Amino acid sequence: MTYTKPKERPTIETERLILRPFCLTDAPAVQKLAGDIEIARNTNAIPHPYEDGMAEEWIGTHQAKFEEGKLVNFANVLRETGQLIGAIGLVVAIEDDRAELGYWVGKPYWNSGYCTEAARAVLDYGFNVMGLNLINAHHMSRNATSGKVMQKIGMKHIATLPQWIKKWGEFVDLELCVIMKSDFKR
Ligand SMILES: CC(C)(COP(=O)(O)OP(=O)(O)OC[C@H]1O[C@@H](n2cnc3c(N)ncnc32)[C@H](O)[C@@H]1OP(=O)(O)O)[C@@H](O)C(=O)NCCC(=O)NCCS
Repeated sequence: MTYTKPKERPTIETERLILRPFCLTDAPAVQKLAGDIEIARNTNAIPHPYEDGMAEEWIGTHQAKFEEGKLVNFANVLRETGQLIGAIGLVVAIEDDRAELGYWVGKPYWNSGYCTEAARAVLDYGFNVMGLNLINAHHMSRNATSGKVMQKIGMKHIATLPQWIKKWGEFVDLELCVIMKSDFKR
């Protein structure tokens, strides 16, 4: 099995969550949750301050990147209430049947297992529906919480990448983690 782009942007249901495509009406919630400095501090691409219009612009990029086969991402919403709590996605290296997992969960929803639950479902989808061979992820060395999520979903720590990125003017070490399809257990 090799990587096959899904025909449509997927929706996945888990015990407590629905992972579905973002829509423009999610923008205010994205701005509020991703606008928390704790989200920007631990991620590479999320701007701070998170200004008006940025969420709409970001959401507006998803469909084209999906059609190119390069991105599958999901709004992470609570099944019971429909409340948006975060984002999770796969950036695909098409030629290599490989993707990079990325995620954030809004601070009011931390430490309830939501990221772990979403990430397991996305790995399952990536390996068993998209046909990926390997999924990698990285977290800042100081971000032990994200490291814990990667460990819980069965990723293996591969390397420390010293001073890999420059965040707000300071070099930051990253930890690289991977999981192969053959090692993934639902
Ligand atoms: C990382 C993040 C997505 C985790 O989301 P979450 O829904 O709270 O994650 P979960 O509840 O599934 O798992 C968190 C785990 O980390 C543990 N944890 C919390 N704080 C911790 C710390 N300081 N050190 C180590 N582990 C910690 C929790 O106890 C939990 O493990 P457990 O279930 O075994 O108790 C969220 O904190 C976040 O969005 N942070 C800011 C953005 C970010 O870091 N994105 C990821 C970039 S790589």
